[in-house]
Amino acid sequence: MDRLIIRGGKPLRGKVKISGAKNAALPSLVASILTSEPIHFSRVPNLRDVHTVCTLLSNLGVRVKNRGRGNYELESSQVQNYEAPYDLVKTMRASCLVMGPLLTRFGKAKVSYPGGCAIGERPINLHIKGFELMGAKVKLHRGYVVATAKNGLRGNSIYLDLPTVTGTQNLMMAATLAKGETIIENVAREPEVCSLARMLNDMGAKIAGAGTDVVTIQGVPKLHGTRCKIIPDRIETGTYMVAGAITGGDVEVVQCDPETVDSVVAKLRETGCKVQVRKSSIRVKGNAPLRSVDISTAPYPGFPTDMQAQIMALMTLSDGVSVINETVFENRFMHVAELNRMGATVHVQGSSATVKGVPKLSGAPLTATDLRASASLVLAALAADGESVVHRVYHLNRGYESLVDKLTALGADIERVSGPPV
Ligand code: EPU
Repeated sequence: MDRLIIRGGKPLRGKVKISGAKNAALPSLVASILTSEPIHFSRVPNLRDVHTVCTLLSNLGVRVKNRGRGNYELESSQVQNYEAPYDLVKTMRASCLVMGPLLTRFGKAKVSYPGGCAIGERPINLHIKGFELMGAKVKLHRGYVVATAKNGLRGNSIYLDLPTVTGTQNLMMAATLAKGETIIENVAREPEVCSLARMLNDMGAKIAGAGTDVVTIQGVPKLHGTRCKIIPDRIETGTYMVAGAITGGDVEVVQCDPETVDSVVAKLRETGCKVQVRKSSIRVKGNAPLRSVDISTAPYPGFPTDMQAQIMALMTLSDGVSVINETVFENRFMHVAELNRMGATVHVQGSSATVKGVPKLSGAPLTATDLRASASLVLAALAADGESVVHRVYHLNRGYESLVDKLTALGADIERVSGPPV
């Protein structure tokens, strides 16, 4: 199994280009199920989750053409299978996004019910409640959610107890072809919801309000093909910003959308780092000593839970005490034990972590359980004295395109090694 060997302590300097966003690419690729006409995608990141969704779509009968350099063409005129099997859903929960498009266009969908994952229980009850309110019959059969809507879906008013991101996307896609009007309240406002709404409107859907907490969708009988450029990845953006900060370097993150990382910019400025924001780039210069800051994760535009592990790595090297509250997922502190093995002093109580800054971290063998936790360990290793070995690199392959190349170009001493652990 591949691992990363990182010799830390080098300040990172230079420019890094941001890739297309994983969490925008996944729903957008899935949305191609909604029409029989081809959809052309560009800036699709080369990531394991993108390959998984392409496998899933191919299994459904979607024609997937990878034209290289992030360009894909998807065409769904021959869909003949309506099932997202256990094997794919267990490797990528976002597979459940096919449920809305399949149900609304073909009146049936069978999706393996996602189990818990490393960061929490993560049920999909709100997706299901929404489909039921739109007239679908939903039952659980041998671990699968089986949904049918023989006469199509009908618009309705749906209130989400929590602003779920993929739940909002799933229901929004379902509502595009439903009869009449659907109003979804307390929806997620994430940029990945807005980019999906834009793509759907380009396909002929009638969606208003994306980016606010109420989305209204007037159903239409049919959608057509379009072109879709995937938006820049805001979590990759934030991760490289922290890479500049934690190594005391000077990193310019380019081809990004600074508006989507306002909360990260604000928090880095509070630490004393110099952050210069331009139209499509952000330059971060490290500061010593780093001031400690408190963070509470929240749905967008709050501080992203997907940046919590990375900002914690930074806070381990601050000059004070930082309190980090995780309010979105119940078990997203799996990186803490590994950071503590590097000499950090982090204490977790319930959904709150208290980080007492230390002057330095030391390299160590490290193993992470999920994507963002792995990113936090890479960041800590880049700043630590000596060598670290980060195992289970496949987590990083899910969400960071060309991570080793990008970090190497910034001056990091990092290499990827294949084969069994030594
Ligand atoms: N929730 C429910 N019921 C539901 C749906 C969600 O209780 O039916 C709860 C979840 O358990 C969680 C909260 O609502 O406590 C928010 O979860 P949400 O549904 O918004 O998460 P998600 O849609 O499954 C997406 C991203 C995650 C990101 C979260 C939060 C994708 C493919 N995934 O997940 O990304 O952490 O939103 O922003 O968009 C990652 O990229 O590393 C990642 C985990």
